[in-house]
Amino acid sequence: MDRRLFLKSSLAAATTTAFGATATKVAWARPNARPTLPMPGLLDLTQTGRLDLVAQQGRHRFGQDSAPSSTFGYNQAYLGPIVRANQGQEIAARILNDLREPLATHWHGLIVPGEVDGGPHQAINPGEVWEPILPIDQPPSTAWFHAHTHPHTARQVYSGLAGVFQISDGRDDERGLPHEHGVDDLTLVLQDRRFDEAGRLSYRLGMFDRMQGFRGDQIVVNGAPNPRSSVPRSIVRLRLLNGSNARIYHLRFDDGRPMHVIASDSGYWSDAVPTNELRLAPGERFEVLVDFSDGRDVSLLTGPDQNRGGPGMMGMMSNMRSFTTGFLDDDLPILSFHPGGRKGAIDRMPEKIDDDLGQPPTNFARKRRFSLDMMLGGMPMGGGMMGRGGAGPTMGINGRAFDMQHINEQVSLGTTEHWVIESDMMMHPFHIHGVRFRVLADETGQAPRLENRGYKDTVLVDGRAEVAVEFTQPAARETPLMYHCHILEHEDAGMMGHFSVS
Ligand code: C2O
Ligand code: CU
Ligand code: CU
Repeated sequence: MDRRLFLKSSLAAATTTAFGATATKVAWARPNARPTLPMPGLLDLTQTGRLDLVAQQGRHRFGQDSAPSSTFGYNQAYLGPIVRANQGQEIAARILNDLREPLATHWHGLIVPGEVDGGPHQAINPGEVWEPILPIDQPPSTAWFHAHTHPHTARQVYSGLAGVFQISDGRDDERGLPHEHGVDDLTLVLQDRRFDEAGRLSYRLGMFDRMQGFRGDQIVVNGAPNPRSSVPRSIVRLRLLNGSNARIYHLRFDDGRPMHVIASDSGYWSDAVPTNELRLAPGERFEVLVDFSDGRDVSLLTGPDQNRGGPGMMGMMSNMRSFTTGFLDDDLPILSFHPGGRKGAIDRMPEKIDDDLGQPPTNFARKRRFSLDMMLGGMPMGGGMMGRGGAGPTMGINGRAFDMQHINEQVSLGTTEHWVIESDMMMHPFHIHGVRFRVLADETGQAPRLENRGYKDTVLVDGRAEVAVEFTQPAARETPLMYHCHILEHEDAGMMGHFSVS
C-alpha cells in the first residue's frame, strides 16, 4: 500500500497547480526516510493548575531534507503542547504574545464565560500578557486552543498556532480505555499543507483558496508529513483533531479495519460504535479505538475532499477546477502504524463507555435561523471579490459580514435554543463558542449521521443542520461569544457573528 501511495504521490508532485507553482512533496524522495510521528510532550496541569504559553516565532523543518520554514507555535517552533486538565479544576492561564503582531488565543471546546473565551475581542498586543482563569466544568473531552485574531486567523493557525487541550476525570481505567500518552493514547493533529520547491511551508492565497478555503496537497500529523508510528499490539486510542483550514477528511484504514468511535467534540459516547469511514470537518474532534493486536502494519488514509461548491459556484469556476483535480481527487496517505512486540494495557474492545447520552432536548426558549452566505456584494469573479479592498470575497451570515461593533444576537442565560443553519453552494463547518449542542437533524433527515450522534461544538452543515444549544455561560457585550464557519478563510472573510448571554 505504501508503495502505491508513493507512486501516486510522485505523480502528484509533477502536477502544476492553478497558481503556477509546482506542488512539491516533502520527505517523499526516499520512502524509507519517512519521519517518526512526533508526539508533543504532555503539559500536565492536574497538579499545578497553571498553564504558561508563549506564542513565538520559530523555524521548523517539515521533511528531513527540507529547508526550515518560518512558523509560529506555542512554547515550541510549530503547534503547541498537549495540555491536560481535570474536570473541576480552575486553571490560571498566562499567555505571552512574543510575536510581532496581535494575537487572540481561543479555547475551542472549553465551555467557559465570554470574558475568558479568547475570541477576536481579546487580542493580545505584541509583548503583552493575557491571564484568564479557566473554570473547567464540563465532561472529559478533547478540546483545543488556537489563534483567533480577526481577520488573520487562517494565516496564524496555518503557521502553527494550535494545540490540544485534554479534559480528564481520571476514570478511564473504569471505562477500559487506554490512556498512556504517546504509547496507547495518541493525539493526532491533522493538517494539510503546501510546500515550495525547498520544502518550505507555503500559504499563498489564490482566488480559488479564498472562495473554497485553502487546501494543501500533503497531510502533516503533529507537524510531520506522512509519518510512521510504532504502536503496541493491542487496543490503541487515537484522539483526532482536524486542525486544517478547510479540508474535510474521510478517514479509513487501507485494510478496511474499523475504527470504534468513543467520543466526539464535547465528550464520550455511551457505546463504542464501529465504522469503516469517519468524516472529520475542520474544528471537529473524534476519539476512536483501533485494534492493532494482529501485529500487521496498516495505513490511515483520507479520501478526496469534494467540498468544492455546488453547481452555482462550480459553473463559474469549472475551468479552474481541472487544474487542481490532479491532487484533490486522490486518496492521500496520513500515517502508518507499525505494531511492535510489546503489548499495551488494553486488549479488549470496551463496549459501554459512559452514561447514556439520552435524547436531545425538545423544549426550546427560542428558534433562530442562520444562513451562511458566500457571496455578499456580488459574484466571486466580479464586485464581490473586491469587497474588501481587493483582499478577497466578503462572506457573511444572514446577509451580514462580521462586524466587531455589532452584536448579532442576545441569548438568555440558562436556556436551550433551537438553531437552524443553512448553507448554500458548499458545506460549512459551523462552530459555536462557549457551548455544547446536540444535532437534531442534518443532511440525512431526522436521524443524524454517525458523526453527529454525541455532544458537539462544531457541525458540518451540508445544506441544513438543526442543533439544540445549551447556553450555560455568561457573555457580556464587550466580550461576546462567537459562532462562525470553521473554514478559516471563510471566517476571515466575514462568515462569523457574535452573541451576548445574560
Ligand atoms: Cu476553533 Cu472560533 O474557533
Ligand atoms: Cu471555539
Ligand atoms: Cu464556510
